[in-house]
Amino acid sequence: MFVTFEGSEGVGKSTQLRLLKEYLFRTGQDAVYIREPGSTDISEQIRGVILDKANSAMTDMTEAMLYAASRAQLVREVIKPALALGKLVICDRYIDSSVAYQGYGRRLGADAVKKINAFAIDGCMPDVTIFLDLPPKSNWRGDRHADRIEEQPDDFFERVYRGYLDEIKLSPTRFVRIKPDLDKLVTSKNIIDALRQRGAIR
Ligand code: TYD
Repeated sequence: MFVTFEGSEGVGKSTQLRLLKEYLFRTGQDAVYIREPGSTDISEQIRGVILDKANSAMTDMTEAMLYAASRAQLVREVIKPALALGKLVICDRYIDSSVAYQGYGRRLGADAVKKINAFAIDGCMPDVTIFLDLPPKSNWRGDRHADRIEEQPDDFFERVYRGYLDEIKLSPTRFVRIKPDLDKLVTSKNIIDALRQRGAIR
């Protein structure tokens, strides 16, 4: 099974991935944990280029293609081989991030981004996608201006969030919408229940 996590910035995705990993470890379930962009030597190098604030001249199309290039490497080097061995693969962001951020945020259009990514993923779509559903808050950044994406203005992140909602309408069975609870353990239990129901985990 191939499970991906999606959501806007600052919705607690990293915390939820950590809690899921702890649950799977406690219950003796193996998984391959990866994040995008990155998780192979080559993909991590591409990540450096994409997120480097010095690369302010990067065009939106270049950005979309670099995310796709990083993904192409990850799919062939890690995801497909792991799935072929029957392993559970859990990925922090995947193609839906490109559709939301580059397609809607950068306004390249969802269709163009899906076309580019069709080559990259070569049919490897997630079985389940957990979407942590919180609209962007203007204060999510705090003092962070950590990378080239996080530097974007608020309206960029509003388009990203609306993009996710549009995409969920197109694939309502693949996406699981989870509203983060104030209590992160409640959110974690909701995620675990959803993944159990779908047979991704025990
Ligand atoms: P990261 O620090 O991993 O962010 P997060 O903790 O929010 O997942 O940086 C990844 C950034 O890249 C994040 O701002 C989302 C963005 N992104 C895209 O714009 N397109 C993509 O296809 C992917 C995978 C990520």
